[in-house]
Amino acid sequence: MTASISGSVEVRGLTKHFATGNGLRPGRSRLHAVDDVTFTLRPGTVTALVGESGSGKSTVARMLARLYAPTSGRIYFKDEDVTDVKRRRDVLRYRSQVQMIFQDPFGSLNPVKTIHHHLARPLKIHNLVERSQIDERIGELLTTVGLVPPERYVDKYPYELSGGQRQRVAIARALAVEPTVLVADEPTSMLDVSIRVGILNLILDLKEREQLAFLYVTHDLGSARYIADYMLVMYAGQIVEQGPIDRVLQSPLHPYTQLLIDSVPDPAAVVHERIDVRKGVASAAVDPPEGCRFADRCPLRIGVCTQVTPELVLTEDGHSARCHVTAPSHAIREEIREPVH
Ligand SMILES: Nc1ncnc2c1ncn2[C@@H]1O[C@H](COP(=O)(O)OP(=O)(O)OP(=O)(O)O)[C@@H](O)[C@H]1O
Ligand code: SF4
Ligand SMILES: [Mg+2]
Repeated sequence: MTASISGSVEVRGLTKHFATGNGLRPGRSRLHAVDDVTFTLRPGTVTALVGESGSGKSTVARMLARLYAPTSGRIYFKDEDVTDVKRRRDVLRYRSQVQMIFQDPFGSLNPVKTIHHHLARPLKIHNLVERSQIDERIGELLTTVGLVPPERYVDKYPYELSGGQRQRVAIARALAVEPTVLVADEPTSMLDVSIRVGILNLILDLKEREQLAFLYVTHDLGSARYIADYMLVMYAGQIVEQGPIDRVLQSPLHPYTQLLIDSVPDPAAVVHERIDVRKGVASAAVDPPEGCRFADRCPLRIGVCTQVTPELVLTEDGHSARCHVTAPSHAIREEIREPVH
């Protein structure tokens, strides 16, 4: 099955449910970690996936990178449905095209191997350059991520580098396999605030120069505003608002987006410390009943909110929101006009 898409990657109705409890005592409840998520990642753009802790951001990222299998929904890569590909060769090809960068650069690098080893390995596994050209290619990769001159870094071990330099090595390793999509899960959150901007500028540079499509997962609206073109706002497993980032931030529709914006201490700052608006968001995603998952926190709640699950509705402003009050569907508008008793 193919779909007509203009993006590098499109996900449709992506869903992941987990059984609650633990391996020894599995619970009967289902955690809807990700429910019916649809978006497209286009070349030369950054899409920010924003939401508080437990909202399902990493689960989306992990499904895209094929680290988790979706419960349902489809993933398309360049028009091809890749959701069920199983052949090792096809999986390797997909994984080389859709690379993931993690929060903790130290954890993702082998402490007893040099930078040369980390970059040579993918080049060899994927047979991307002649053996005689590996050193030259490693030099290019280090230069691309701003580790210059490359000879200063190539024989170092991860512990000899700063956090920001290690994250640059992790990005160089991802670039080694010539991907078209990079999924970056909070790539700057473990770095000092002072060096986060350098990594954000590198992402911007790669977006422009290599025309990569980025999914940038973050808690931080300041950094999202700085680098992203599109924004997806997640709450309790669902996308509650999405669209061009300027429109979403200038005229937010969903009360949760408004809450996130109001929680930012300095809207002009490029990066902030991690914001946790409130813990416990995941409980709204355990066996969720019909209705809006944000209802118990919402200042705008009306009767229908706890009875009917809001759909993601495209508004005249060009972005979409899941809210009966600020972005009502046609059916809800009719119902509010003529309440059923
Ligand atoms: N392998 C798993 N098994 C069971 N539950 C999981 C698993 N992975 C994630 N979850 C649960 O799914 C929900 C969403 O988790 P996820 O890690 O995607 O959130 P997040 O938005 O990335 O949060 P954070 O900002 O803290 O990283 C959480 O309740 C989490 O505990
Ligand atoms: S649907 Fe209702 S409860 Fe949910 S965000 Fe909108 S107004 Fe609030
Ligand atoms: Mg996460």
